[in-house]
This record gives sequence, C-alpha cells and structure tokens, in this order.
Amino acid sequence: MLKETLINATEAGAEVLKTYFNSKTLKISNKEGINNLVTEADHAAEKAIMETIRQQFPDHFILSEESGEMATESEYKWIIDPIDGTVNYAHGIPLCCVSIGLEHKGKMILGAVYNPLLKEFFLAEKGQGATFNGEPIQVSQKATVMDSCLVTGFPYTYLDMPNGPLDVFNRLIRKGIPVRRLGSAAIDLCWVAAGRFDGFFEHKLQAWDSAAGFLIVEEAGGRVTDFNGDYYSPYQPQILATNGKIHEELNGYINGK
Ligand code: IPD
Ligand code: CA
Ligand code: CA
Repeated sequence: MLKETLINATEAGAEVLKTYFNSKTLKISNKEGINNLVTEADHAAEKAIMETIRQQFPDHFILSEESGEMATESEYKWIIDPIDGTVNYAHGIPLCCVSIGLEHKGKMILGAVYNPLLKEFFLAEKGQGATFNGEPIQVSQKATVMDSCLVTGFPYTYLDMPNGPLDVFNRLIRKGIPVRRLGSAAIDLCWVAAGRFDGFFEHKLQAWDSAAGFLIVEEAGGRVTDFNGDYYSPYQPQILATNGKIHEELNGYINGK
C-alpha cells in the first residue's frame, strides 16, 4: 500500500504539472533570493500529492517544500518536492518533475521521480533496485572522471565561497571535463541512476531535492555521500552521487585537487 500510494501521489502531482505547463496565464511569484520562483502549479501539485497521501495515511509525517513540516508521531515521513525544476517549468522547459521520498524510522525506503513532460518515471525501493518506466536500471561503467559526463546545479545564493559551486565548476571545465546543468537535482540524480551521467554534485540542496533521487542512485548500484565521502543524509546540504567507480577521483576535484 505504501508503494501504491507513492505512485498514485506522484501521478496526481504530475497531472497538475501537465495541466499548467506552458499556460500563458501561469501565476509566478518570487521566494527568498533572486529568481527563486514558485508558481501556482507548485501549490496545486503539492495539494494533490498531500491529499492522495492523507487519504491513505492521515497520521503520517509530511515534509513538503511549499508547506513546510506537518509533524506527527508517525515512523513514516513523506518528503515532497511538488516541482523540482521550477525555473525550467516557468520557462516552458520540460526538465522538471515531481519528487517524493518516503522514510521509515529515519531511513529512506521508497523514492519516486516523475517527469510527465518527457514521460520518464523513476522508482526505487530499498533493497529492491531501481526502475525507469518499469525497467531495471544500472549506473554507468565509466572508470575515470576524464571519460565522464557530469552534471551539477547552482544554489540561488552562496555561489562564491572557496571550493564553492563556481570554483569547482571552473576547475572541472578547465580540465576539459563536460559538466552539464539541467536545473533539477532530482532529474540529475535519476540520470546518474540511468547511466546518462556518470556523476552529480551540488553544494547546497534541501531534503526534498534529493530524498527520492539519492535512493534511486543507490538502488541502481551507485554511491552517494557528502563531500567528505561520509554517509549521505538529505538533511545536510552537500551531495556527491556517482557510478561508484569515479567517486574518489571526483571527490578529490571537488575538494580542490
Ligand atoms: C532547485 C533545483 C535545482 C537546484 C536548486 C534547487 P526547485 O529546486 O533542484 O537543480 O540547483 O538548488 O533549489 O527550486 O526547482 O524546486
Ligand atoms: Ca527542488
Ligand atoms: Ca520545488
């Protein structure tokens, strides 16, 4: 029932994304910082997702980007990003998705990321592998960073700290390594899981950006840590997610090599 509800909630949110996508009258407003947008579709998708979850599990804990924490005593916690890639969404760029992770006793057990515009549905269950539109997926086999195609993202603020997002980007690009920037951390992670990218890193994510995607990478055989190479928690900002083979080498570059 948990997995079914996760899929239903993800699809309910995705229906909203399809409805408002490219709407000429889409209402857009600014959050903290410049170009940190929220649209009426974010709010409507969040409502549809939360209603679907609450119908089945009214007492579960929910953490959702636009509404914040709805804390309960439950061992289950749903972590929701109703639209990851809102800036893309607001510009009619079809690189955006619904992302939902489910924790049980503090461990991620299920994750779903769905981009209904490209019709790409990624799902993972702890210990059961990851799928892309129902087919099992595996990370890539690339063994060196030089042979890799990487992806990263930039926060809306704090770009210029030493070894910060711009420093690391500059360093990798100057080595001739391809580094892309899609604008949706959840999609970045799923594309690592599917082997399209070999590694993803970002300096300042929120729990809802990565909750589902990090489990999808791990279940596709990849490795996810912070920039110290330690156990990954979505409640701290840094993420390094790779096919495993390039992990140490890429972590060296992120830390200044
Ligand atoms: C953003 C995206 C982006 C990442 C930002 C996030 P949002 O989420 O995941 O790729 O670089 O840090 O805030 O605002 O589109 O939900
Ligand atoms: Ca996000
Ligand atoms: Ca969002």
